[in-house]
Amino acid sequence: MPFPKKTARFGLSALMAVMVLAAQASAQEDPDPARGKRVYRGTCIACHGPTGKGGIPGTPDFTKGNGVLSQDDSVLTDHIRNGFRSKGSTMPMPAKGGNPKLTDQDIQNVLAYLHEEFGEEN
Ligand code: HEC
Repeated sequence: MPFPKKTARFGLSALMAVMVLAAQASAQEDPDPARGKRVYRGTCIACHGPTGKGGIPGTPDFTKGNGVLSQDDSVLTDHIRNGFRSKGSTMPMPAKGGNPKLTDQDIQNVLAYLHEEFGEEN
């Protein structure tokens, strides 16, 4: 049975519409440390403290040279988004700092803030 031309054309435009939507969904703005600061103050500061040196036992010192912030951003993004527990650690980092409302954009913003405020060279 020949494939009806109309259906084929509809299929193609539907596919293109999906691709356009997907492109829009993944289009993120550039990371904004100023907005990241608000995320930090709202969600992260309770554990990581205002100086980034660690507010409670078990949290890393962000300002330490060659510390956790020297890891690749893809690793840090994953650890912030999904939570993280290092070997032998008594306390894990909760996913999104325990704030399920954080968006991927918030995570990029707060990571930019961490680098700008506490990171050595970034
Ligand atoms: C409930 C306390 C708590 C909150 C809130 C919290 N963290 Fe953490 N975070 C931790 C602890 C504890 C660790 C260390 C975990 C370990 O090493 O096992 C950690 C580790 C990290 C690390 C290092 C990960 C690594 O790869 O070593 C980053 C980066 C981080 N937190 C960022 C954030 C950001 C950004 C926020 C806010 C969105 C946040 N944290 C909120 C407790 C917290």
